[in-house]
Amino acid sequence: MSDLELSGLIKRAEEARERAFAPYSKFKVGAALQAKTGEIYAGCNIESSSYGLTICAERVALFKAISEGVRDFIRIVVTADTKEFCPPCGACRQVLADFAPELKVILLSSSGKTKETTIAELLPEAFGHDFLRHRETG
Ligand code: THU
Repeated sequence: MSDLELSGLIKRAEEARERAFAPYSKFKVGAALQAKTGEIYAGCNIESSSYGLTICAERVALFKAISEGVRDFIRIVVTADTKEFCPPCGACRQVLADFAPELKVILLSSSGKTKETTIAELLPEAFGHDFLRHRETG
């Protein structure tokens, strides 16, 4: 990926973060998921007054893509308005691993630093659809 493409992806994640609906935690997160088609799907966290119904930025981005019929992904940028990198939560790791076990994950700090990892690194020995075939029958 060229620097230009990466900066475009970063910009989409930052723009999405600005649209976060996080009146309860005040913790705004943005994500931008690049599909193999080149298309970018951005997402922000959306909180609910019934806190447990909150959805993270990463899953919003992924579900937007899936709902558009897109299933193949290259990388995702995740950014919060914090100096530290904001790694995806456990639930998002699982859902990202379900659809994109080889996904690259680029964490972006508020000062513009990046750290690159993968979903496989973030969720080793992941549960996946293959395991569903191994259940005992009867
Ligand atoms: N959040 C995300 O959107 N992504 C993450 O990777 C971590 C947490 C959101 C959920 C909630 O709205 C807020 O951040 C605080 O947990």
